[in-house]
Amino acid sequence: MEYNITLIPGDGIGPEVTSAAVKVIENSGVRINWEIVRMGAAVIEEFNTPIPAYVLESIKKNKVALKGPVTTPVGMGFKSVNVTLRQELNLYANIRPIKTFEGVTSRYEDVDLIIVRENSEDLYAGIEHMITEDIAESIKIISKKASDRIVEYAFKLAKEQNRSEVIAVHKANIMKLSDGLFLKCARNIAEKHKEIAFGDVIVDAMSMKLVMNPEKYDVLVMPNLYGDILSDMAAGLIGGLGLVPGANIGEEGAVFEPAHGSAPDIAGLNIANPTACILSGVMMLRYIGEAEAADKIEKAVEAVLKEGKYLTCDLGGTTGTQEFAEVVIEKMAK
Ligand code: NAI
Repeated sequence: MEYNITLIPGDGIGPEVTSAAVKVIENSGVRINWEIVRMGAAVIEEFNTPIPAYVLESIKKNKVALKGPVTTPVGMGFKSVNVTLRQELNLYANIRPIKTFEGVTSRYEDVDLIIVRENSEDLYAGIEHMITEDIAESIKIISKKASDRIVEYAFKLAKEQNRSEVIAVHKANIMKLSDGLFLKCARNIAEKHKEIAFGDVIVDAMSMKLVMNPEKYDVLVMPNLYGDILSDMAAGLIGGLGLVPGANIGEEGAVFEPAHGSAPDIAGLNIANPTACILSGVMMLRYIGEAEAADKIEKAVEAVLKEGKYLTCDLGGTTGTQEFAEVVIEKMAK
C-alpha cells in the first residue's frame, strides 16, 4: 500500500529537519507518495497570501501531513500560518509528549508526560484591536464545546496509553468566567472517566511543580496559551526543543510537526536536531496504522541517543542534521 501524505517543508530549519525525517521514514519500509506544498513568507509575493489554497486542499484531500516549522513575523505582518492551518482544518488537539531519553544529559530522570493543548481558541482566536491609540485589547474565547472536546481527548489518550492521571491546568482563580468554564467542563468530563484519576492545578503553580518534580506528571490538559508556554518549558526539562515531537489532530485529519519553531539562529547550517521531526513522523506512522515501522524508528532514535556517539550540537555533540538521520537509518538496519 502507498500512502498519499502532504509534506510542508516550512522555512528556517524546516527543510533540513523534514528532509532528515523523510529519509528515515522512507527507510522504515512504509511507502509514501509525498505531496510537497510550500507556505509562509516565501510564497507571499507569488500568491498574495502566506497560506495558498493548495495547502489546505492538499491536506483536506490526503488527511495527513508532516510539517516543518514556519516563521511568523513578530508584532506585525501576517497572522501565524500555523494557527490559521490549525483553525482552518479544525485540528483541535495539539499533543506533545515529553519524555526523558537515556543518554541525553538533563537535570531530571524518568520524565514521561503528555501535554494536551487545546488548539482552536483561547487568545489564539486572534481577536484583537486597538481601543485607543494607546490601549490594545485581545479577546480570550473559551467555549464549552472546545473545552469538552479537548478534555475528552485527554482521557481517551490516557486510556489508550495506560496512563493513570489527567490534570487540568488553568487560571480559574483570576479568569473566573473563561478559565472557570474550562475547569467546569473538565470536572464534568472527568466524572465520566472515574477509572482515571483527575485533578486540577493553577498554571503558575503547575510551572513550579513541573520544574520541581516533572516525573510525577502524566497527562496535562489545558487551554491554548498555557499549552504553548508549558510545552516549551517542559522541553527544557528533557534536553530542549530538538527532542519534542507534536501532533495536531482533528476529526478529519492530522498535521504532525515538531514543537519547535524555525530556529532562524541556526537555519541553513545543518546543525539542527532532527529528532523532534523524526519523532513527529513516528506519531504520524502510528496515526496511519503503521505501528511496526513507528516502533522501529523510535527504537533506533532512542538507541542512537543512548549511545551518545552521534549527537547534534544542542545535545553537546558535533553530528550534523543529515548525518544524524543516516546514523538512525543504519541503526534501523541492524
Ligand atoms: P524556536 O523554537 O525556533 O527556537 C528557540 C531556540 O531553540 C533557538 O535557540 C533554536 O536554535 C533552538 N532550537 C529549536 N529547534 C531546534 C532544533 N531542532 N535543534 C536545535 N536547536 C533548536 O523558537 P523562536 O526562535 O521563538 O521562533 C522562531 C520562529 O518560529 C518564529 O517565527 C515563530 O513564530 C516560529 N514558530 C513556528 C512554529 C511552527 O511552525 N509550528 C512553532 C513555534 C515557533
